[in-house]
Amino acid sequence: MDLDLRYPAVSDLRERARRRIPHFAFEYLDSGTGAELQVRRNREALDAVWFLPSALPGRVDPDFRTTFLGQDWDRPFGIAPLGMSGLMWPGAEALLARHAAQARIPYCLSTVATRLPEEIGPLAQGTGWFQLYVPARGDILRDILRRARESGFSKLVLTVDVPDDSRRERQRRANLTLPPKVTPRMVWEMLRHPAWSLGTARFGRPRLRLAESYVASRKSRSSLAHAGHVIRGTPDWDTLREIRDLWSGDLILKGVMDPEVAVRLRAHGADAIWVSNHGGRQLEAAPAAITMLPKVRAALGPEVPVLFDSGVSSGMDVLRALALGADFVMLGRAWHYAVAALGAKGPGHLHHILTEDMRLNMAQVGAHRIADLAARLCPPL
Ligand SMILES: Cc1cc2nc3c(=O)[nH]c(=O)nc-3n(C[C@H](O)[C@H](O)[C@H](O)COP(=O)(O)O)c2cc1C
Repeated sequence: MDLDLRYPAVSDLRERARRRIPHFAFEYLDSGTGAELQVRRNREALDAVWFLPSALPGRVDPDFRTTFLGQDWDRPFGIAPLGMSGLMWPGAEALLARHAAQARIPYCLSTVATRLPEEIGPLAQGTGWFQLYVPARGDILRDILRRARESGFSKLVLTVDVPDDSRRERQRRANLTLPPKVTPRMVWEMLRHPAWSLGTARFGRPRLRLAESYVASRKSRSSLAHAGHVIRGTPDWDTLREIRDLWSGDLILKGVMDPEVAVRLRAHGADAIWVSNHGGRQLEAAPAAITMLPKVRAALGPEVPVLFDSGVSSGMDVLRALALGADFVMLGRAWHYAVAALGAKGPGHLHHILTEDMRLNMAQVGAHRIADLAARLCPPL
């Protein structure tokens, strides 16, 4: 089967994922919060970033290799952290980590993944970043950082845009609760998706394994809600100072939309700033992330490493973010649509889609290098 003909775009992978996994899993992956206006706003704002087409640019054969935070990468894109990846597809974390290692792109493992840092770090072979939700207890925080470091995660990503839950109404409508209540509808959904169900039987029920490892008794371990509370700290600026002291590697601050906050985080020791609105899942009444990217870049100046995510679903979108000031672009849902749609073949195919789309569009705009892109931007009239 020629994947490029059957699934030429992320939207095709999304559609196949929708059919291939139970409704509650797809709703968890695909949804935003509220009426999902911010998800739409992210898309519309990306679509409003235009370039002027070129004339006679000659042969365009861009080199996508880049150095970011002292490490060489084959592409300026990577895999954003998603909690409960194993709910979307059994073994998703391992598939993504293996892909990252082979493709030399970063894979960021979530605190609330269904696999432990000890399992995933070695698979990522030095490409792994660890995303932290701050635990309420200091001893657990220190232990998690130790485990991440010892598992080979060289960079720590501290997420700052989740001060509390958001409503995520679509997840509620799909009956996805913590701990999950197995309803007749869920059982029916599992029966209708045998590949997902067989895989889940093989890999085990998706659980918050890292948080669970700090819950004392076997009995309370069965409660996802209980485990979830372990990582439910209420971090403030003092917490950031503490983490900065504890973590000697690169510290990336994720979920930044406010240019002033970005500058303050930098002053507090952030090695990189990750502009993101969490893919439209937290504060619905906030701007599209891409509209804040140039403002954050301007506030930080040209030298500070900046990442971007939220709504990126093509190579063209990667180019848009790079043109507007990002050094590195991350995608969350797209990698999980790919894995849910095509299993082990998914990440490689998405990598191909993104790379080809970037290459061909660089030719369209006549940009021989990433650095040429900004000059080809064309403000909508
Ligand atoms: C299902 C889902 C789970 C997520 N879980 C986490 C998480 O555990 N930690 C985190 O920092 N961000 C999390 N995010 C946010 C992503 O890291 C990323 O910011 C977002 O998905 C980017 O938008 P995109 O999906 O449109 O690419 C999650 C996003 C989704 C869709």
